[in-house]
Amino acid sequence: MRMTEEMRKALRITVDYTNMTDKYLGDKGYGAKKFDELKKTIKAAHAYVSGNRGKDELFMGWTELPYNQDAIVKDILETAKAVRKKFDYFVVLGIGGSALGPIMAFQALCHLHHNDLPKSKRKGPKFYVEDNVDPVRMKELLDVIDLKKTCFNVISKSGATSETMAQYLIISELLKKNGLSVKEHMIFTTDAKKGNLVKISASLGGVKSYVLPDGVGGRFSELSPVGLLPAAVLGIDIKLLLKGAAFMDKLCKSADVKKNPALLCAALQFMAMRDGKNVGVMMPYSDNLRYVADWYAQLWAESLGKNVTLDGTPCNAGQTPVKALGVTDQHSQVQLYTEGPFDKVVTFLSVGSYKQKSPIPHGCEDIPDVSFLGGHTMEELIQAENKATAYALTKAGRLNYTIDLPEVNEFTLGQLLFLFEMQTAYAGAMLNIDTFNQPGVEAGKKATFALLGKPGYEEQKQQLDAAASDPAYRV
Ligand code: PA5
Repeated sequence: MRMTEEMRKALRITVDYTNMTDKYLGDKGYGAKKFDELKKTIKAAHAYVSGNRGKDELFMGWTELPYNQDAIVKDILETAKAVRKKFDYFVVLGIGGSALGPIMAFQALCHLHHNDLPKSKRKGPKFYVEDNVDPVRMKELLDVIDLKKTCFNVISKSGATSETMAQYLIISELLKKNGLSVKEHMIFTTDAKKGNLVKISASLGGVKSYVLPDGVGGRFSELSPVGLLPAAVLGIDIKLLLKGAAFMDKLCKSADVKKNPALLCAALQFMAMRDGKNVGVMMPYSDNLRYVADWYAQLWAESLGKNVTLDGTPCNAGQTPVKALGVTDQHSQVQLYTEGPFDKVVTFLSVGSYKQKSPIPHGCEDIPDVSFLGGHTMEELIQAENKATAYALTKAGRLNYTIDLPEVNEFTLGQLLFLFEMQTAYAGAMLNIDTFNQPGVEAGKKATFALLGKPGYEEQKQQLDAAASDPAYRV
C-alpha cells in the first residue's frame, strides 16, 4: 500500500500520559520537577541508544531492520506465495522470541477465527505456533493437520533449544515415516553460520533457510524473517509493517523526552520502578491486540530482569509484566489494580476505530438496566469501558497511561512493536544493565540438558539429582 504523509499522520499512534502526571495524581504522579531531576539519565540513555544503533556486537542490529531487508522481503514474498499454493497448514516450531512475535502478528492482523474459516475466505493456510513441549499438544496438533499438506517453519537462532529441536526430531521422523521429504516440508529460520540448523540443512541437501541476523536477539526479532515469513504466508502486508516501524523510529530519534514516545514511556516506567512500582500491567482493549501483551511481557521481562549493572554493581532490576485483556479482565483483575497494593503501572492499548462496529439493537425497553445499551455499538461500549477503567484507576490515585492506536493494521502494529523495542532499549540504558542478554534463561536451558543426559553436563546432573525434592516437605 502507498502511504501518503496525510495517511501516516492519521495512523500515527500516540501516548496519552495524563494519568501519570502530578496534575492528576498529585505527588504520586510525575511532573516537571521529577522530569528535570531525571534529565541527565534521560540524556545518557538517549545518547547510548542512538550512539549504538545497528551495532551487532551490542545486539542492537534490530534498529536497522526496517531499512535493510529489501532483498530478504522480496525473497520472503516469493516463498510465501509458493507456500500458500502448495500447503494448507503452516506450523511454526519455535519458542520465546522465536514464537511470540508470529503469534502476536497472527492474532492482530488475521481474522480472529482464521483457522475456522473456509479456505476461500482465508488469505493463507491454517496457522499454528507450537511453542511448548506439552506432549498432549504435540499429539493433538497431529490430529488436526494433514502432514502431506503442511509446511513447518523451524525457528531457532541457536538450533540448540531443547523444545524446538525435540519438535524438529519428532516431525522430521514422522515426515520420513510417511514417505515425505523433510527438505520439501520445512523452512528454517536460524543463525547464518553458528546454529545447528545450518548443519542439519546441509545434511538434508539444503533446506530453504532464512537468517536471523547476528545482532538481533530472539525477543527483538519480530521484524526479521522470524516474524516476516509467517506473516507473509498469512497474507499480512509485511512491507507496511516495516514502514510502520520506520515511521515510529523517526519519532523515537528525538532527544526531547516530550516528543519521543519511547523515551517518554521508558522515563515514566523508570521513575515508577524507582518508586517501587514493580508490576507493569499491559491491558489491550482489543482481542486482536491480546498477544501483544504476551510478546511485550517477554521483551520487558527478559530484557530488564537483571541482577548486575554494566559496571558490575549487584542489582535486582526489572518490573514484572502482567498480561490483562480489556474488558474481560475488568471482571477479574481490575479490583486489585484499583484497591490492592500500589505497586503497579497500567498501560492501556486503546483502539480508535475497530474493524467492526457491531451495532446493539434496541430492546427490553421496560428494563432500564438493559435498554440504555440499545442504539449504541459494541465499539462504543468497549471504548467507554476502557475510558471508565482509566478514570476509575486515576480517581483511586493509580498510575496508568494509554497508547492510542487509530486502528489495528500493519502500519500501526509496526509502530507499536518498534515503540516497545525502543522503550525497552531506553529503559535498559536508564537502569544501566545489559538489556540484550538472558543468562537466567540460559541457566534453565543448561539444567534441562543435564537432566536429559547431554554429554558435558554430568556434574550438573549430579547436583540436580542431589537436589531432588525432600519427602519431609510433601503433604
Ligand atoms: O529472546 C530470546 O533470546 C529467547 O527467548 C529465545 O528466543 C528463545 O530462548 C529461543 O531461542 P532460539 O531461537 O535459540 O531457539
